[in-house]
Parts: sequence; structure tokens; C-alpha cells
Amino acid sequence: MNDRYGRTISYLRLSLTERCTLKCAYCRAGEGACPKKSELTREEFLRIVRVMVKLGVTKVRLTGGEPMLRRDLLEIVSGIRAVDGIEEITMTTNGQHLPGMSKELRRAGLDRLNISLDSLRPERYEALTGGGSLELVRTGIDEALEAGFSPVKLNAVLLRGTNDDEVDDFIALTKDKPVHVRFIEYMPLGAEDHANLRVTGDEILRARPALVPAEPMYEGQPARDFRLPGYTGSVGLINPVSHRFCDSCNRVRVMSDGMLRPCLGQNMEVSLKEALESGDDVILLETIRNAIWNKPKAHAFGEEFVSDKTMSRIGG
Ligand code: 5AD
Repeated sequence: MNDRYGRTISYLRLSLTERCTLKCAYCRAGEGACPKKSELTREEFLRIVRVMVKLGVTKVRLTGGEPMLRRDLLEIVSGIRAVDGIEEITMTTNGQHLPGMSKELRRAGLDRLNISLDSLRPERYEALTGGGSLELVRTGIDEALEAGFSPVKLNAVLLRGTNDDEVDDFIALTKDKPVHVRFIEYMPLGAEDHANLRVTGDEILRARPALVPAEPMYEGQPARDFRLPGYTGSVGLINPVSHRFCDSCNRVRVMSDGMLRPCLGQNMEVSLKEALESGDDVILLETIRNAIWNKPKAHAFGEEFVSDKTMSRIGG
């Protein structure tokens, strides 16, 4: 369906849990997570998907927290796969739990994977993530490629003075591997903004004139894509703050606490809890229709906006 500004909403992001084994400062900000027992159940997520398909959703991304901490993840994937009208299921993961799982995820019906990776140096990775293992992520990436996930996207959030000296190392990964490395601009979510930490895509491009524009992977995508001539993979720049893409935004988020958030960069939320408890899909559909219609025109990053939730709770 369209929202009041004429944008077609076809993409649903489900945050399956707020729990995560990592503690990346820009994502968690020391917050606890919604306890497991109050997370939406698999059946509730599937009901939401079925209703949203009626409203025109064709693509679902599973995120979190860390979605792989859900014991019923494979059942959730296959449950969504079985919904008529769903064209694509993707997942964003920190990769820590990926080794040994890629084939099963493929079999359950997952189409694509995004893996968060902010450093290629083991000690730095461990420090940034509060104890994560770079080796596990790298094994996970190789297995995902072997299992046939394509493209495998790697998300790096650049923070000035922390990991911005690794841009070329990340780009070098695209030389022989069919990976798509995406540099994501730091967004102020659940913490005050630190604009001075943000590394813009334009800055990255200016210093690397060899990067040539590449065809977008799909229409209306937020990333601007580039590649180095002769390289197998590609590079994406995602700049929600310095290159706002709200006019082509096609997504809404539903979080594990049952709240629907139509815009990542606005605090407006609508509870689906009562509608879910009513057991009546018509009520659920009307509640969601209303929330989509009222999706904010644009995010408020860079305008003294402070998100009342961190990314780990909203879902990346
Ligand atoms: N700004 C930008 N990206 C973020 N992510 C988490 N928090 C932030 C933030 N404050 C990223 C994660 C993950 C993706 C889903 O969102 O690193 O790769």
C-alpha cells in the first residue's frame, strides 16, 4: 500500500529479539534487552507477515538484536517462505552464530544475508564488539558464500578515529570474493549524536577516485554502489544523514516487543499487541494500515533528534 506521501511500502523488517551477544557501543549503548518471555512468538510474527502481504509487502528482513539467538529461527524462515506473496527473505546478523548454519538457512528459504563487520583486525574487532570473535564471522562469511548466498553483504559502520583507517582493507575484500561491502554512516540512535564521528560517503569517494559507479542492485535502494575495475565484488555507500533517501523509503519495522515503527529516525510507534491479542486479523490489518498511512515524511537525524530506542532494540 501507499502511505500518505505516495511511497509504496513493500518491505518489512522484523526484529526477532533485542538480545545480542555483542555490545557494539553505537548500537547497544549499555542498554538491557526486552526479556525473552515477552518477545513476540513465531505465530505472532507469522500473522503479522500474512497480514502485511495483504497490504503489499513482498520482502521481509529478519534482524535484531541478533536474530540467530531465536531458537525457532529456521521455523520462522520456513514459515515466512510458505506465505504466498513473499518474494524475498533476508537476514542481518553479526555472524557470531553463523558457522555451521548457512546450509540450513538456505534450505529453510533464506535468500540473502547481511553480516555486520566493523573491523578486519582481530583485537580491534573484539574491542569494538565487546568480546566478539573475528574468526567466527570470517568462517561464517566463507560458508555463506559456499552455501550459495548471493550477494553476501558486509555492513561496516565507520567511526572516525576508530576504524576509518580500514576502508581500503574492506574494499580489498571485494577483489576476489563476490561480497558487497557497505559503509554505513553512523546514525544517532539511543545516544546523543556524535556528528564528528560520522564518515560520509563523499569523503570516502573523494579519497578514492578509482571507485567507479556501479548499477544499483535493485530500484530505490538506499546504497550508492561502486566497484574497482577488475574486482569481483562491489562497494556500497549508505548515507542516511548526509544523503537522505526518505523520499524513496519503502519499509516499516516491527519489533520483538510488538511495536511497529514506521520510521527509523522518528520515535513514532504503534502497538500491535492489542490487535494481536484480539485474535482478529481485520483489527490487525486496520492497525497496520493506519500506521503505514501515517509514516513520517522524513527522519529527524541531524536535528537534535534523540531516539528513545537504540538500534539493538529497533532492529538494524
Ligand atoms: N548507526 C548506523 N548503523 C548502525 N547499526 C547499528 N547501530 C547503528 C548506528 N547507530 C548497524 C549495524 C548493522 C546494521 C543492521 O545496522 O552495524 O550492521
